[in-house]
Amino acid sequence: MVESRNRRIGLFDSGVGGLTVLKQMYHRLPQESILYFGDTARLPYGTRSQAEILQFVREIIDWMLTQDVKMIIMACNTSSAIALESLQKEYDIPILGLILPGARAAVRVGQRIGVIATPATAASNAYRQAVQEVDPATRVWQIGCPEFVMLIEQNQLHSAYTKQIAQEYLQPLLEQKIDTLIYGCTHYRHLEHIFRLIVPSYVKIIDPAEHIVIAAKKELELMGIKSNRPALATRFYVSGSPKDFAQLSRQWLGYVPLVHSQQLNIPVEISDQI
Ligand code: DGL
Repeated sequence: MVESRNRRIGLFDSGVGGLTVLKQMYHRLPQESILYFGDTARLPYGTRSQAEILQFVREIIDWMLTQDVKMIIMACNTSSAIALESLQKEYDIPILGLILPGARAAVRVGQRIGVIATPATAASNAYRQAVQEVDPATRVWQIGCPEFVMLIEQNQLHSAYTKQIAQEYLQPLLEQKIDTLIYGCTHYRHLEHIFRLIVPSYVKIIDPAEHIVIAAKKELELMGIKSNRPALATRFYVSGSPKDFAQLSRQWLGYVPLVHSQQLNIPVEISDQI
């Protein structure tokens, strides 16, 4: 049996967004072994109802528990905004989300904070609440960007259309003269080359992916479950096509990952609205 501290950490997203968190894990917690799950058969999450998101995340956590993980990282802002609080109460295992670490990092550097996020995350108001809990005087503007996730999943990272839509989404934030921009969706760092062209250089960019990993490190130390052995190779699972995920991921991972198929309770029909 694997010693408790050397078990894997479960990390999930709807798709390739979670890779931005995975890269931070490799950088800041290189000894940790990871189980990655991408719910690619059901993405995007950001236009789904709260009931659907809650159900999908429950299914993922239940499956990850069968894989004997020691901690779960929601590498998905939408899941963190909608499901984290309820699920932390339901499960004994430590579960971490992106909103608080991201919001706290932003409050440290800015007073006029713009958030780009999925429609579900923007509508949840989670970032504004988290920021204003720390400092009620800080202003927050949240913009739902429904098209980004699919453009990234379709590898449209450099197209003229992606640039144009990015300009449109960011315009209202630029008009508010934001001094800080939060990537409120883990997919968005994959478009950093575009955002840097649009956003003035004095605007500080906060990627919550970095800050959730800093929080995870503290939590592992506090709980005495930080790995004390070299990491095993990351195990990748997706609910959609393993081949598509492997091909798309290669540009960020620098290698072609071995990806397995894992079906959860698919398909699911739920009619509840956000
Ligand atoms: N990458 C996820 C997030 O951070 C989910 C995006 C989606 O599937 O809409 O919100």
